[in-house]
Amino acid sequence: MENLKKKLLALKEDEFKPETILKFLQDANITKDSVKKYVHFEKATYTRNLVCKNAFFEMIILCWEAGHSTMIHDHAAQGCWMTMIDGLIMSDDFKYIAPASFTGSLEKISCASFKKGQSYYIDDTVALHSLRNPVKTHQRAMTLHVYSKPFSSCMAYDLQNKSVNELNLVYHSLQGKRGGPWPAKEINQAL
Ligand SMILES: [Fe+2]
Repeated sequence: MENLKKKLLALKEDEFKPETILKFLQDANITKDSVKKYVHFEKATYTRNLVCKNAFFEMIILCWEAGHSTMIHDHAAQGCWMTMIDGLIMSDDFKYIAPASFTGSLEKISCASFKKGQSYYIDDTVALHSLRNPVKTHQRAMTLHVYSKPFSSCMAYDLQNKSVNELNLVYHSLQGKRGGPWPAKEINQAL
């Protein structure tokens, strides 16, 4: 984990390419033990736990109880890499079938499951997605995410109500320190 952090912190802005970071994540082979410090579960929601951040990227560990899920969301025109540390996560992927301003303009294009060791990359040109740890897994899940550049809000879609809203993101812990949630936009310093 420390090695992965060092490698990411050494990169310049234009070096955050999908295949470069995917290779970093695959080579890092992150274990549950190596991220213990950042692991923090809450009953009510999945948690976003900040590992490190600079002007070019942020690295976050998400902790999911069985049944936790995100809304369908975009990634604010940034790149998102995910690698599974533990458990299972399903990703439902969507694309626009009409201009983004038209609410309810999304169509499901695929659904994939990810298990320990698997990684993937997504950005708004690939798809929008919703992630979930299905109730029936009866187990917790942990995922590591790299976003480049960091972003503090994204658009969240509710297909049932045909609505789209800006979602302000938070961190539930900062480098293992609890006591949040903190609005992501207020945490800008390099950690
Ligand atoms: Fe996402």
